[in-house]
Amino acid sequence: MEVINESIYDHPKYYDLVFGSDVAAELNFIGEVNAKHMNGKATRLFEPACGTGRLMFGLARRDYQVAGIDLNEKAVDFANQRLEKRGYKPSACVADMSDFTYVPKWDLAFNTINSFRHLTTPKAVREHLSCMAAGTKKNGIYLIGLHLTPTTVEPLDEESWSASRGHLTVNTHMWTNVRSPKKRIERFGIRFDIYTPTRQFRIVDELVMRSYTWRQFQTMIDRQGDWEIEAVYDFRYDIKKSIEVDSSSEDVVYVLRKK
Ligand SMILES: C[S@@+](CC[C@H](N)C(=O)[O-])C[C@H]1O[C@@H](n2cnc3c(N)ncnc32)[C@H](O)[C@@H]1O
Repeated sequence: MEVINESIYDHPKYYDLVFGSDVAAELNFIGEVNAKHMNGKATRLFEPACGTGRLMFGLARRDYQVAGIDLNEKAVDFANQRLEKRGYKPSACVADMSDFTYVPKWDLAFNTINSFRHLTTPKAVREHLSCMAAGTKKNGIYLIGLHLTPTTVEPLDEESWSASRGHLTVNTHMWTNVRSPKKRIERFGIRFDIYTPTRQFRIVDELVMRSYTWRQFQTMIDRQGDWEIEAVYDFRYDIKKSIEVDSSSEDVVYVLRKK
């Protein structure tokens, strides 16, 4: 099979299919967070690291005003084309989530599936949280979904899944290359095996992410100062089941309230 070493984010069509399966649960959850934590008053939403805009698009269809930013130009083009094609404002732009200003301010922001962990230095994390606080209305909410590093159970090291749309199938495999808890860096291998009627090929990439135990996450939020943790859920996205985070927690969604 032909193998290419490229960023998976440079292939928005495949990315969008591979990470599309949970969209409905994520969209419902964002709506439920709005109802429970904002009394249903959030109308303006923002997504840092919006990628292909799979969530932005779903939320625009649910009548929210949405905007997003991402570093990857191809992902932003993909997001805007999809929005525009269906009659919505092409509201994604290219920007670094650690260095941006955006007006008008939003009520609720969300950052799912580990994008936050792409901020690999403490400085980038602090600056991101400051930019987010500057753009969030008073008492607004920021949702961050990520995998924590559990310290009392073995972390998950491998995952495989498959997704198809029409004649396109993508088999995805993710594995841990390096786990370095002292340096707080994890390197994940990821590959997409792509099958179309005319071509079969593999894209191989490595994702570099900052790691967090639950205490490290809590300390980082406390030190940065603009946010407080209001509630935590997990990737079941069940609004009735907020969880107590502890050393065995892995997949979590933090609900941060702007102070
Ligand atoms: C796992 S994808 C998530 C995309 C989208 N949020 C979703 O749920 O499908 C991570 C995204 O983060 C973007 N990204 C990484 N570092 C970034 C940064 N410093 N500023 C903005 N976007 C960034 C990548 O380009 C990629 O599109």
